[in-house]
Amino acid sequence: MKTKVSIIGAGHVGATAAHLIFQSGLADIVLYDIMQGTPQGKALDLMEAAPLWGISSSAFGTNDLADTAGSAVVVVTAGLPRKPGMSRDDLLLANKEIITNVVGETSRISPECIFIIVTNPMDIMTHVAWKASGFSPQKVMGMGGVLDASRFRTFIAMELGVSPQDVEAMVMGGHGDLMVPLPRFTTVKGVPLPELLPHERIEELIRRTRNGGAEIVALLKTGSAYYAPAASVFEMVRSIVLDQKRVLPCAAYLNGEYGVSGFFVGVPVILGGKGVEKIIELRLTDGEKAEFTKSAASVKELLENQRLT
Ligand code: APR
Repeated sequence: MKTKVSIIGAGHVGATAAHLIFQSGLADIVLYDIMQGTPQGKALDLMEAAPLWGISSSAFGTNDLADTAGSAVVVVTAGLPRKPGMSRDDLLLANKEIITNVVGETSRISPECIFIIVTNPMDIMTHVAWKASGFSPQKVMGMGGVLDASRFRTFIAMELGVSPQDVEAMVMGGHGDLMVPLPRFTTVKGVPLPELLPHERIEELIRRTRNGGAEIVALLKTGSAYYAPAASVFEMVRSIVLDQKRVLPCAAYLNGEYGVSGFFVGVPVILGGKGVEKIIELRLTDGEKAEFTKSAASVKELLENQRLT
């Protein structure tokens, strides 16, 4: 039997992630949503592409969470999308209830699963999911850093006129306006970014990266980004299912690393079959550390406001 990956929320991000995972042949997909017909229609549409893609995986759409039982990975995208002018944090209250319910139930019927949380505000929803699951924090993580780093890589590649795949980037901290792109740990074929671009240009690319989600929201007007978020989910799911042990920035539970304890924030981790297998501690300068601490403090403040810590 193939590995089973369930995707909660068959909207833009969920359905696009389902497409990428399904087309890769990595796993069988279960797509769940509260909207009657939506997950069934999208899953059937995927199945009808299988002959053309030459794959033998299955895609199944459902309005019954029981169908997700026995999943190896559960990706949670259910929630309300961000509208223009709306911050990720505005979504907090509505999405908190959705995440508590779906993760509470899926964790009972897939006790071995690993959760990847996408719903915004992502760092907070990952904490909510962890509490609702009762799982070890190693098995719960948030998708944000892979996306933020991919945006930074894209803007650097565009600026330098090089292939984006030759750009590696590190972005730490919360998945919000205070995220911390790290030029010293960002390289083009091994050459650190500060050797390739003047400080002011790097600052401009960092500003665009921080604003990356909002830039797309402003263009789309009726929704938020989904191709790059879904591609980020796919990279994480693949690293877990194939036990690749990729080094990726994810929202992970910190227990003293980087001077933070008791909540989830973006840091580089080794991502494998057991979930977050190791948190990698980079040696940050005082300035980098101060930025990370400020970003982590903003996540903590939101958690405390919601009495979630
Ligand atoms: N259970 C299951 N699905 C739900 C529930 C629920 N309780 N509540 C809402 N949904 C579904 C909606 O029916 C919708 O199909 O979640 C889906 C969300 O999809 P979209 O509205 O298209 O949003 P999307 O762009 O996919 O973003 C999803 O990811 O990036 C974040 O900020 C974004 O939090 C948002 C999430």
